[in-house]
Amino acid sequence: MGMLEGKVAIITGAAQGMGEKHAIRFVKEGAKVVVTDIKDEPGQALADKLGPNAIYMHLDVTSEEQWAAVVAKTEEVFGPVTTLVNNAGYGKFLPMDMLTSADFERHIKINYIGIVNGMKAVIPSMRKAGNGSIINISSVDGVRGASTGSAYCGAKHAVEGLTKSAAVEYGKENIRVNCINPGIIKTPMSEADADPALIEFLKQMEKGIPLGRRAEPEEVSGPVVFLASDDSSYVSGTSIIVDGGYICHI
Ligand SMILES: NC(=O)c1ccc[n+]([C@@H]2O[C@H](COP(=O)([O-])OP(=O)(O)OC[C@H]3O[C@@H](n4cnc5c(N)ncnc54)[C@H](O)[C@@H]3O)[C@@H](O)[C@H]2O)c1
Repeated sequence: MGMLEGKVAIITGAAQGMGEKHAIRFVKEGAKVVVTDIKDEPGQALADKLGPNAIYMHLDVTSEEQWAAVVAKTEEVFGPVTTLVNNAGYGKFLPMDMLTSADFERHIKINYIGIVNGMKAVIPSMRKAGNGSIINISSVDGVRGASTGSAYCGAKHAVEGLTKSAAVEYGKENIRVNCINPGIIKTPMSEADADPALIEFLKQMEKGIPLGRRAEPEEVSGPVVFLASDDSSYVSGTSIIVDGGYICHI
């Protein structure tokens, strides 16, 4: 029996990168999965590949209307939501004085308000299910400062506080809320879509990782599955750092 039998999960930003790997692993573990993203073609292709236990829906996490539609469709197709992986994210890395206020707002809208919208949308559905696990994808940049990362770090730090508050508010309803804090993971965000300055910055950072390498995205899926599963039934309001030991080294 898979670790996620009986779970009904929504994963955001799941068309590529870590979200895609989480969706693949969730289905393997027996969950029903709603793959969501703003990139419809790869998102739909992934859901098709995953078979009858997955569907795709367009979801821009900044839109409350789209969140309502996704939760309604999830309930109709698979039943009440038990699991939410708030994975969609965005990062622009430049010195603070080179970032515009629109850049800062974009980070807050996608990386923070997007998560607020998701939690507010699924909590009534989790009440119907009688339990829930919300996994907010933060970053090592949610617990440290980083040169060129002011907008990204600020938004990810906000996710940490939000997660703890939600864990306190909803614990009595059997809804757990936690963060996963990846280090450097091989995805389009840190490779194909990253600008040369970020790639150089990450190369320097990689030298300080005790495990001596970046992670494959699948290596983050294990801790996410743990938080989604009943094996973590007494884990709430915390952050699991998945960084090859980087944070303890600095
Ligand atoms: N890659 C890393 O090294 C790293 C490290 C720490 C944390 N993270 C975090 O992990 C998460 C996943 O990152 P990734 O590396 O897989 O990135 P990625 O860029 O490969 O994938 C992110 C996905 O989010 C989607 N997305 C962007 N804006 C969206 C929006 N408004 N609504 C819905 N979807 C949207 C994108 O279309 C994309 O498919 C992010 O929250 C990121 O901040 C990544």
